Amino acid sequence: MAHRQTWDPERYARNARFVADLGAPVVDLLAPLPAERILDLGCGDGVLTAKLASIGCQVIGVDASAPQIEAARKLGLDARVMNGEALDFEGEFDAVFSNAALHWMSNPAEVIAGVRRALKPRGRFVAEFGGHGCVAKIREALVEALDRRGIKGEAASPWYFPTVEDYSQQLTRGGFVVSYIALIPRPTPLPGDVTGWLETFAESFTSTLSLAERPCYIAEVREALRPELCDAEGKWTADYVRLRFAANKRP
Ligand code: BEZ
Repeated sequence: MAHRQTWDPERYARNARFVADLGAPVVDLLAPLPAERILDLGCGDGVLTAKLASIGCQVIGVDASAPQIEAARKLGLDARVMNGEALDFEGEFDAVFSNAALHWMSNPAEVIAGVRRALKPRGRFVAEFGGHGCVAKIREALVEALDRRGIKGEAASPWYFPTVEDYSQQLTRGGFVVSYIALIPRPTPLPGDVTGWLETFAESFTSTLSLAERPCYIAEVREALRPELCDAEGKWTADYVRLRFAANKRP
């Protein structure tokens, strides 16, 4: 099944600002230095890219979404529409950085090969994304509600959430030496109802239905999740798990 996911910068800012706000640990792991040349892979609307630029890094952001790149350019960034599985750079970056993007790329070997090509010798690849078990409850509710409609829910899931072992092997095979890798459970408070999260991130599932069917599907998923993810005060928390790593290009 082809997975459909589009990005509306306004909706993203409303429902997903926490993605960049919670990016401090992976930026710390990157330890960027002024004047370093850095590629931000899957830069989205460029909020973290701008943070790297404000430190004095020469940063280029790439993302597959044209509307997100337009939003990043409005921040004055060098941002380009590019497929993360076909990066078009050759030996020019001190580091490739990525936050909350690699789980949208289903071919990790192609991603890692492109990152390796883009880096200078011994350059570093530092990233965080959804790891094994990420949004497991949300994913299960989305899948089951499609299954109940006679649609194969599993096939609609667009996400790649590897284990530490899987991704370490991918990096090593792809020509990197891993210096740090960890799976980090990070329950994430949402800015509102889980509906906003579903509307922003779960289009691969909702797009299998007609426009008329979608509100009922989303309400059903929300109610299935309420006992697990919504507290007595009505505050929702998503069951995020992060995979965070740092690796260097093997000479
Ligand atoms: C994440 O950032 O981990 C994430 C985002 C959307 C769907 C699943 C995971």
